[in-house]
Amino acid sequence: MSDAKIPVLIDCDPGIDDAVALTLAFGCGRLDVLGVATVAGNTTGENTYRNARKFLSFIGAEVEVARGADKPMLRPLVTAPDVHGKTGLGAIGETEDGGTGNDVTDTAGRSALDLITEILLNHPTKVTLIPVGPLTNIAIAFLARPEIKDRIEKIVLMGGAALEGNRTPAAEFNIYVDPEAARVVFDSGVPITMIGLDVTHQALIYPDEIEALRKLGLVGRIVAELMDFYGHHYRKRFEGNPIHDALAVAAVFEPDIVSTRHVNVCVETSGEFTLGRTVVDFRGVTGREPNCDVALGVDRERFINLIFAAVQNLERRREVRSRE
Ligand code: RIB
Ligand code: CA
Repeated sequence: MSDAKIPVLIDCDPGIDDAVALTLAFGCGRLDVLGVATVAGNTTGENTYRNARKFLSFIGAEVEVARGADKPMLRPLVTAPDVHGKTGLGAIGETEDGGTGNDVTDTAGRSALDLITEILLNHPTKVTLIPVGPLTNIAIAFLARPEIKDRIEKIVLMGGAALEGNRTPAAEFNIYVDPEAARVVFDSGVPITMIGLDVTHQALIYPDEIEALRKLGLVGRIVAELMDFYGHHYRKRFEGNPIHDALAVAAVFEPDIVSTRHVNVCVETSGEFTLGRTVVDFRGVTGREPNCDVALGVDRERFINLIFAAVQNLERRREVRSRE
């Protein structure tokens, strides 16, 4: 295994599981996160931008955060307050500093489009994209600056489902919010790994594991509190919480943590009952070229161990900072 860190760009809509994805990305020690772009999805664009800066400040991640689209390309925004709370970070999002003790002053930086374009065109090697929200920012960048596609190693995205959806019976939330953007990305020709509900609904963190996290200092406590809120929604259906977005991050630096099939995936953008469906052609009946590695199996225990290790690393760094 190479010791070199993998250069990545994260595009997210924090969002509770997005926050855990950022925890893993900055705590695993295996990724060079060149930038973080935010997009409206789980909550408004204003909230996702603030939540990303607040949470990254809390975990001590020094990285540029760029605000992206406040709405899908063609449709009104659909959010998920029932899952992530009205400000997007569960209960910790309700207080001004989000319960993290971090003063987050607003900084009007450059746009997500400028961040994505500049990093991809100037980084010395190809960059892996990790979109874990609606694909609006990525699609806009591809349409505005198509030359950036050649600078992408691959896209490892959280989204889609070969089987059941979660926003509708047919569609997973990220794809459902902006199906036209998802179609642009899946039709782009850039290599894609789809970390969909088929595996994220297996990548559960269980209550006893959340209690173990809670004992890992302030970082562990905050992540556990995010999981507590998330559990209010998911406990109706699962014994644990699916940490959807964090699995996409794990699959970048440990690709064999999931098992995949290389097949054609296209996105439904007009179906009355199937809008946002990722149509996965496992048997090749359409004759369309395979364009995506669809994840179907996951090593859950290995995934949870990565989360624990990342939280412990960040807590150690936080303690050092607090003594400075
Ligand atoms: O369907 C799960 C996805 O939708 C995750 O990315 C979650 O954060 C929400 O955005
Ligand atoms: Ca997300």
